[in-house]
Formats: sequence, structure tokens, C-alpha cells
Amino acid sequence: MSVRIAPSILAADLANLEREILEVSSADLLHVDVMDSHFVPNLTIGLPVVRRLAEVSPLPLDVHLMIEDPDRWAPQYAELGAASVTFHIEAAKNPAQIAADIRSAGARASVAIKPDTPAEAVMALLGQVDMVLVMTVEPGFGGQSFMPETLSKLTVLSAAARESGTALWLQVDGGITTDTAPAAYAAGADTLVAGSAVFGPSDRARAVQDLRDVCHA
Ligand code: DX5
Ligand code: ZN
Repeated sequence: MSVRIAPSILAADLANLEREILEVSSADLLHVDVMDSHFVPNLTIGLPVVRRLAEVSPLPLDVHLMIEDPDRWAPQYAELGAASVTFHIEAAKNPAQIAADIRSAGARASVAIKPDTPAEAVMALLGQVDMVLVMTVEPGFGGQSFMPETLSKLTVLSAAARESGTALWLQVDGGITTDTAPAAYAAGADTLVAGSAVFGPSDRARAVQDLRDVCHA
């Protein structure tokens, strides 16, 4: 299984997003963090900016919604052209309906769990989503340290996906570096979000390749 790399633009130069995105065009997805200052304390961008990003990005958009009321907002991100839309189970009123709405708008549906939320919270949804995001830091900010205690959830979810025969992707997000990526990949993560580890170094293409290399070593 080839690892997928999704650079998070939260760590990019936000005044020059189009230029920054072109520098990571060798990655697989572009990770876009939407925060509303309610579900998480931080505030980032919303529909109008993500709509423009979808128009200029050579990479498919992987939108991570850290917002209240994803029931209302998630389908709109799918409609504007995001390839994948992730909502948090902790914020969802009717998760199965959100997933169905995202899919019927043409995107992959994905559900996220925070570090304190058990894998069991999304088990019933596995047949209805295309990806599960296991947060490896508390959502809200880039540049935090990877929490190794989240790894066991990847093992549980990848076993469950294998048993049920669903082609589920497993994503990790938070503190992913060349030091932490191998353990996440070995535990079953196939899609790695990385903000600081990709946009921190000046050679972003090299940083993307380094993450691939450490997983496949
Ligand atoms: C944090 C965001 C992440 C963040 C990751 O809540 O969801 O996507 O950008 O940043 P790093 O890779 O720096 O931990
Ligand atoms: Zn994210």
C-alpha cells in the first residue's frame, strides 16, 4: 500500500496560498483546515476561500471541518468541489445523514475522532464513509507533538475495515514528521497529513518525498 501525503496549508504562507500550493504538487491531496472558534478555539477560513482554493489547486482538496453544525455546512464543501470532506463525530447530530449528503454532492465522506474519542464511536459508520481521520493531536493548532497513545485506534480501525472488506482510508493528522510517520503507517494509516513538516522546510517537494521514503523504508 502506497502512502498518501496531504500537506496542511495551515502551516503555509497564508498570503501566498496559490504559490505555496504549487510547491507541494507532488503530494496526493491538499489538506484544508476549517476552524470556527467554537468547536476548536482557533479560527481559519471558510467557504469563500475554500471555493477559490478548489479552483486553483492542482491537487484534490481534503477539507477537514473542525466546526459546530457540520450537518448544515459539510455538504456545501462537497458541492464547491472538494474531493473529500471530513466532519467530526463529536459535533455531528446525524452522522450517517452527513456522510450520505457529502457523497451525494460528489465527494468522499470522512469522519474524524479527537484523541479522547474511542474508535468504537465510528464503528457503526464504517460502511457509510470513505475515510476515518484519527486525530493524533488535539485539533485546533499546527505544530503540536504527536500523541502515540492514539496509535492503537488505527490498529483497531484497520482490522475492522479489513474484516468488513470496505476500502476505507485511514488518515492521521497532527505532529506527523519523518520521526512519527513510520509508526502511524505501520499501525494502518495510509493517508498522512503534515503541516509544519512540509511547509517548515524550504524544499517542500523534498519534504513530501522524505515522508514517503520513511514509510516505505
Ligand atoms: C490541527 C490541524 C492539522 C494541522 C497539522 O488541528 O487539523 O491539520 O495543520 O499541523 P502539524 O502537521 O504541524 O501538526
Ligand atoms: Zn487537519
